[in-house]
Amino acid sequence: MKFRHSDLLRCPMDQQALREDGGRLCCDNGHSFDIARQGYVNLLGARDKRSRDPGDSKAMVSARRDFLDGGHYLPVAQTLAEMVAPLLHDEAVIADAGCGEGYYLQQLREQMASTRAATPTMIGFDISKWAVQAATQRLDATWLVASNRNIPLAPGSVDCLLSLFGFPVFGAFNTVLKPGGTLLCVTAGPRHLIELREILYPSVKHSESTFLKQALDAGFLQGESSTLEFVTAPLRQRAINQLLAMTPHLFRASHEGKVRAASLDRFPVTVQVLFQQLRTRIT
Ligand SMILES: C[S@@+](CC[C@H](N)C(=O)[O-])C[C@H]1O[C@@H](n2cnc3c(N)ncnc32)[C@H](O)[C@@H]1O
Repeated sequence: MKFRHSDLLRCPMDQQALREDGGRLCCDNGHSFDIARQGYVNLLGARDKRSRDPGDSKAMVSARRDFLDGGHYLPVAQTLAEMVAPLLHDEAVIADAGCGEGYYLQQLREQMASTRAATPTMIGFDISKWAVQAATQRLDATWLVASNRNIPLAPGSVDCLLSLFGFPVFGAFNTVLKPGGTLLCVTAGPRHLIELREILYPSVKHSESTFLKQALDAGFLQGESSTLEFVTAPLRQRAINQLLAMTPHLFRASHEGKVRAASLDRFPVTVQVLFQQLRTRIT
Protein backbone atom coordinates (compact mmCIF):
# COMPACT_ATOMS: atom_id res chain seq x y z
CA MET A 1 0.00 0.00 0.00
CA LYS A 2 1.28 3.47 -0.88
CA PHE A 3 2.38 5.60 2.08
CA ARG A 4 -0.21 8.33 2.38
CA HIS A 5 0.73 11.83 1.24
CA SER A 6 4.44 11.07 0.89
CA ASP A 7 4.55 13.95 -1.64
CA LEU A 8 4.19 16.35 1.31
CA LEU A 9 7.13 14.87 3.22
CA ARG A 10 10.72 16.06 3.21
CA CYS A 11 13.97 14.38 4.22
CA PRO A 12 14.95 15.59 7.72
CA MET A 13 18.65 15.55 6.74
CA ASP A 14 18.57 17.75 3.62
CA GLN A 15 14.91 18.79 3.02
CA GLN A 16 14.83 16.91 -0.31
CA ALA A 17 11.56 15.42 -1.53
CA LEU A 18 10.99 11.79 -0.52
CA ARG A 19 9.84 9.02 -2.83
CA GLU A 20 8.60 5.62 -1.88
CA ASP A 21 10.85 2.71 -2.79
CA GLY A 22 9.65 -0.65 -1.53
CA GLY A 23 9.06 -0.35 2.18
CA ARG A 24 11.05 2.87 2.52
CA LEU A 25 10.96 6.57 1.81
CA CYS A 26 14.14 7.77 0.09
CA CYS A 27 15.61 11.08 -1.03
CA ASP A 28 17.91 11.66 -4.00
CA ASN A 29 20.93 12.05 -1.69
CA GLY A 30 20.61 8.45 -0.49
CA HIS A 31 18.92 8.96 2.89
CA SER A 32 16.24 6.36 3.49
CA PHE A 33 13.63 5.75 6.17
CA ASP A 34 11.80 2.50 6.81
CA ILE A 35 8.01 2.44 6.84
CA ALA A 36 7.25 0.65 10.11
CA ARG A 37 4.83 -2.27 9.96
CA GLN A 38 2.38 -0.19 12.01
CA GLY A 39 2.30 2.28 9.10
CA TYR A 40 4.33 5.25 10.35
CA VAL A 41 7.76 6.57 9.33
CA ASN A 42 10.49 7.72 11.67
CA LEU A 43 11.78 11.00 10.18
CA LEU A 44 13.81 12.12 13.18
CA GLY A 45 17.22 13.28 12.06
CA ALA A 46 20.21 12.38 14.26
CA ARG A 47 20.45 16.02 15.39
CA ASP A 48 16.76 16.15 16.36
CA LYS A 49 17.26 13.75 19.27
CA ARG A 50 18.45 15.01 22.61
CA SER A 51 18.14 11.61 24.27
CA ARG A 52 17.98 7.99 23.16
CA ASP A 53 14.22 7.82 23.71
CA PRO A 54 12.95 11.40 23.28
CA GLY A 55 9.51 12.70 24.21
CA ASP A 56 6.86 11.04 26.30
CA SER A 57 7.63 7.55 27.62
CA LYS A 58 5.55 4.48 26.87
CA ALA A 59 3.98 4.73 30.34
CA MET A 60 3.01 8.41 29.86
CA VAL A 61 1.51 7.66 26.46
CA SER A 62 -0.54 4.80 27.81
CA ALA A 63 -1.77 6.90 30.78
CA ARG A 64 -2.81 9.73 28.43
CA ARG A 65 -4.59 7.35 26.05
CA ASP A 66 -6.58 5.77 28.90
CA PHE A 67 -7.39 9.13 30.51
CA LEU A 68 -8.52 10.75 27.24
CA ASP A 69 -10.56 7.67 26.31
CA GLY A 70 -12.40 8.24 29.60
CA GLY A 71 -13.93 11.31 27.91
CA HIS A 72 -12.77 13.75 30.62
CA TYR A 73 -11.42 16.23 28.02
CA LEU A 74 -14.19 15.75 25.46
CA PRO A 75 -15.26 19.43 25.70
CA VAL A 76 -11.69 20.38 24.68
CA ALA A 77 -11.97 18.17 21.58
CA GLN A 78 -15.43 19.56 20.77
CA THR A 79 -14.27 23.17 21.05
CA LEU A 80 -11.27 22.34 18.90
CA ALA A 81 -13.50 20.80 16.21
CA GLU A 82 -15.78 23.86 16.21
CA MET A 83 -12.78 26.16 15.72
CA VAL A 84 -11.06 24.05 13.09
CA ALA A 85 -14.08 23.19 10.90
CA PRO A 86 -14.45 26.65 9.30
CA LEU A 87 -10.71 26.78 8.57
CA LEU A 88 -10.71 23.67 6.39
CA HIS A 89 -11.93 22.82 2.92
CA ASP A 90 -12.08 19.19 1.79
CA GLU A 91 -8.61 19.25 0.17
CA ALA A 92 -6.98 21.05 3.10
CA VAL A 93 -4.01 19.67 5.02
CA ILE A 94 -4.16 19.70 8.81
CA ALA A 95 -1.15 18.67 10.89
CA ASP A 96 -0.94 18.04 14.62
CA ALA A 97 2.52 18.95 15.97
CA GLY A 98 3.26 16.92 19.11
CA CYS A 99 0.15 14.84 18.41
CA GLY A 100 0.65 12.48 21.35
CA GLU A 101 -1.36 9.31 20.93
CA GLY A 102 -3.68 10.82 18.35
CA TYR A 103 -6.81 11.49 20.42
CA TYR A 104 -7.52 14.95 19.02
CA LEU A 105 -7.05 14.02 15.35
CA GLN A 106 -9.33 11.03 15.89
CA GLN A 107 -11.97 13.26 17.48
CA LEU A 108 -11.65 15.75 14.61
CA ARG A 109 -11.99 12.99 12.01
CA GLU A 110 -15.09 11.58 13.73
CA GLN A 111 -16.75 14.96 14.12
CA MET A 112 -15.97 15.98 10.52
CA ALA A 113 -17.07 12.63 9.10
CA SER A 114 -20.62 13.32 10.26
CA THR A 115 -20.77 16.74 8.55
CA ARG A 116 -18.60 16.44 5.40
CA ALA A 117 -18.46 14.34 2.26
CA ALA A 118 -14.63 14.26 2.37
CA THR A 119 -12.30 14.81 5.26
CA PRO A 120 -9.09 16.83 4.96
CA THR A 121 -5.64 15.25 4.84
CA MET A 122 -4.48 14.57 8.37
CA ILE A 123 -0.84 14.38 9.45
CA GLY A 124 0.24 13.78 13.04
CA PHE A 125 3.81 13.87 14.26
CA ASP A 126 5.48 13.54 17.63
CA ILE A 127 9.03 13.08 18.83
CA SER A 128 7.93 10.08 20.92
CA LYS A 129 7.84 6.84 18.94
CA TRP A 130 5.57 5.38 21.63
CA ALA A 131 3.05 8.14 21.03
CA VAL A 132 3.13 7.64 17.26
CA GLN A 133 2.83 3.87 17.56
CA ALA A 134 -0.27 4.35 19.73
CA ALA A 135 -1.68 6.93 17.29
CA THR A 136 -1.54 4.45 14.40
CA GLN A 137 -4.03 2.33 16.33
CA ARG A 138 -6.53 5.17 16.48
CA LEU A 139 -6.99 6.16 12.86
CA ASP A 140 -5.66 5.92 9.36
CA ALA A 141 -3.62 9.09 8.81
CA THR A 142 -0.05 10.08 7.97
CA TRP A 143 1.88 9.42 11.17
CA LEU A 144 5.50 10.48 11.63
CA VAL A 145 8.05 10.37 14.38
CA ALA A 146 9.46 13.87 13.95
CA SER A 147 10.48 16.94 15.87
CA ASN A 148 8.86 20.37 15.98
CA ARG A 149 12.40 21.71 15.62
CA ASN A 150 12.87 20.13 12.17
CA ILE A 151 9.46 19.39 10.67
CA PRO A 152 9.82 17.03 7.69
CA LEU A 153 7.01 18.63 5.68
CA ALA A 154 7.24 20.71 2.52
CA PRO A 155 7.44 24.45 3.16
CA GLY A 156 4.04 26.12 2.73
CA SER A 157 2.15 22.82 2.62
CA VAL A 158 -0.13 22.99 5.69
CA ASP A 159 -3.42 24.90 5.97
CA CYS A 160 -3.92 24.39 9.69
CA LEU A 161 -1.34 23.37 12.28
CA LEU A 162 -2.31 22.31 15.79
CA SER A 163 -0.15 22.52 18.90
CA LEU A 164 -2.08 21.10 21.82
CA PHE A 165 -0.40 21.20 25.22
CA GLY A 166 2.81 20.96 23.19
CA PHE A 167 6.21 22.52 22.73
CA PRO A 168 5.77 25.00 19.88
CA VAL A 169 8.70 26.02 17.70
CA PHE A 170 7.21 29.03 15.95
CA GLY A 171 9.89 29.50 13.29
CA ALA A 172 9.48 25.93 12.05
CA PHE A 173 5.67 26.20 12.30
CA ASN A 174 5.73 29.35 10.20
CA THR A 175 7.77 27.61 7.49
CA VAL A 176 5.44 24.64 6.96
CA LEU A 177 2.22 26.66 7.02
CA LYS A 178 0.77 28.10 3.80
CA PRO A 179 0.65 31.90 3.54
CA GLY A 180 -2.53 32.88 5.40
CA GLY A 181 -2.55 29.49 7.17
CA THR A 182 -3.60 29.07 10.78
CA LEU A 183 -1.73 27.84 13.81
CA LEU A 184 -4.03 26.88 16.67
CA CYS A 185 -2.27 26.68 20.03
CA VAL A 186 -4.07 25.14 22.99
CA THR A 187 -2.40 25.82 26.32
CA ALA A 188 -3.19 25.37 30.00
CA GLY A 189 -4.71 28.42 31.72
CA PRO A 190 -3.80 29.60 35.23
CA ARG A 191 -6.66 27.62 36.81
CA HIS A 192 -5.99 24.40 34.91
CA LEU A 193 -6.14 21.42 37.32
CA ILE A 194 -5.96 23.91 40.18
CA GLU A 195 -7.45 21.53 42.78
CA LEU A 196 -4.86 18.88 41.98
CA ARG A 197 -1.98 21.36 41.96
CA GLU A 198 -3.05 22.64 45.40
CA ILE A 199 -2.63 19.10 46.69
CA LEU A 200 0.63 18.42 44.86
CA TYR A 201 2.52 21.59 45.80
CA PRO A 202 2.98 23.57 49.04
CA SER A 203 2.09 26.74 47.10
CA VAL A 204 0.68 27.06 43.60
CA LYS A 205 2.54 29.35 41.23
CA HIS A 206 1.52 30.44 37.79
CA SER A 207 4.23 31.78 35.54
CA GLU A 208 3.00 34.14 32.85
CA SER A 209 3.00 32.40 29.49
CA THR A 210 5.35 33.90 26.90
CA PHE A 211 4.12 31.83 23.95
CA LEU A 212 2.10 34.64 22.35
CA LYS A 213 5.08 36.99 22.35
CA GLN A 214 7.27 34.25 20.89
CA ALA A 215 4.70 33.62 18.14
CA LEU A 216 4.42 37.31 17.25
CA ASP A 217 8.22 37.65 17.29
CA ALA A 218 8.37 34.75 14.80
CA GLY A 219 6.13 36.71 12.42
CA PHE A 220 2.67 35.31 13.21
CA LEU A 221 -0.36 37.57 13.29
CA GLN A 222 -2.61 37.34 16.32
CA GLY A 223 -6.03 35.82 15.61
CA GLU A 224 -9.08 34.94 17.69
CA SER A 225 -8.69 33.53 21.17
CA SER A 226 -11.05 32.03 23.70
CA THR A 227 -10.92 30.29 27.05
CA LEU A 228 -12.75 27.08 27.86
CA GLU A 229 -13.33 26.28 31.51
CA PHE A 230 -15.31 23.40 32.96
CA VAL A 231 -15.24 21.06 35.94
CA THR A 232 -14.93 17.35 35.25
CA ALA A 233 -17.22 14.76 36.78
CA PRO A 234 -15.65 13.39 40.00
CA LEU A 235 -12.55 11.49 38.86
CA ARG A 236 -11.91 8.02 40.22
CA GLN A 237 -8.51 7.22 41.71
CA ARG A 238 -7.41 5.43 38.53
CA ALA A 239 -8.16 8.50 36.39
CA ILE A 240 -6.35 10.80 38.87
CA ASN A 241 -3.29 8.58 38.60
CA GLN A 242 -3.49 8.60 34.79
CA LEU A 243 -3.75 12.39 34.86
CA LEU A 244 -0.70 12.61 37.11
CA ALA A 245 1.25 10.22 34.91
CA MET A 246 0.53 12.17 31.70
CA THR A 247 1.53 15.63 32.96
CA PRO A 248 4.83 17.25 34.00
CA HIS A 249 3.57 17.08 37.61
CA LEU A 250 4.85 13.50 37.56
CA PHE A 251 8.40 14.91 37.55
CA ARG A 252 7.91 18.24 39.28
CA ALA A 253 5.90 17.39 42.40
CA SER A 254 7.48 16.12 45.61
CA HIS A 255 7.09 12.49 46.66
CA GLU A 256 4.75 13.56 49.51
CA GLY A 257 2.59 15.59 47.12
CA LYS A 258 2.25 12.69 44.72
CA VAL A 259 1.35 10.29 47.53
CA ARG A 260 -1.40 12.70 48.70
CA ALA A 261 -2.74 13.09 45.15
CA ALA A 262 -2.55 9.39 44.34
CA SER A 263 -4.95 8.53 47.16
CA LEU A 264 -7.68 10.94 45.98
CA ASP A 265 -10.92 9.42 44.78
CA ARG A 266 -14.12 10.91 43.35
CA PHE A 267 -12.30 14.21 42.88
CA PRO A 268 -13.53 16.75 40.32
CA VAL A 269 -10.94 19.04 38.72
CA THR A 270 -11.15 22.32 36.85
CA VAL A 271 -10.00 22.21 33.24
CA GLN A 272 -9.07 25.66 31.93
CA VAL A 273 -7.56 25.93 28.48
CA LEU A 274 -6.77 28.81 26.18
CA PHE A 275 -7.35 28.48 22.42
CA GLN A 276 -5.22 30.96 20.50
CA GLN A 277 -5.33 31.27 16.73
CA LEU A 278 -2.33 32.72 14.92
CA ARG A 279 -2.06 33.42 11.19
CA THR A 280 0.88 33.44 8.83
CA ARG A 281 1.25 36.51 6.63
CA ILE A 282 -0.11 36.38 3.09
CA THR A 283 3.06 37.86 1.55
C1 LIG B 1 1.66 17.16 26.92
S1 LIG B 1 1.86 16.05 25.55
C2 LIG B 1 0.48 16.51 24.54
C3 LIG B 1 0.12 15.46 23.53
C4 LIG B 1 -1.13 15.78 22.68
N1 LIG B 1 -0.95 17.01 21.93
C5 LIG B 1 -2.35 15.87 23.57
O1 LIG B 1 -2.74 17.00 23.92
O2 LIG B 1 -2.90 14.82 23.90
C6 LIG B 1 3.24 16.76 24.70
C7 LIG B 1 3.71 15.92 23.51
O3 LIG B 1 4.77 16.62 22.85
C8 LIG B 1 5.75 15.67 22.45
N2 LIG B 1 7.00 16.40 22.22
C9 LIG B 1 7.90 16.87 23.12
N3 LIG B 1 8.90 17.53 22.50
C10 LIG B 1 8.61 17.50 21.16
C11 LIG B 1 9.25 18.00 19.99
N4 LIG B 1 10.40 18.69 20.06
N5 LIG B 1 8.67 17.77 18.81
C12 LIG B 1 7.52 17.07 18.69
N6 LIG B 1 6.87 16.55 19.77
C13 LIG B 1 7.40 16.79 20.99
C14 LIG B 1 5.76 14.65 23.57
O4 LIG B 1 6.32 13.41 23.17
C15 LIG B 1 4.26 14.55 23.91
O5 LIG B 1 3.62 13.55 23.17
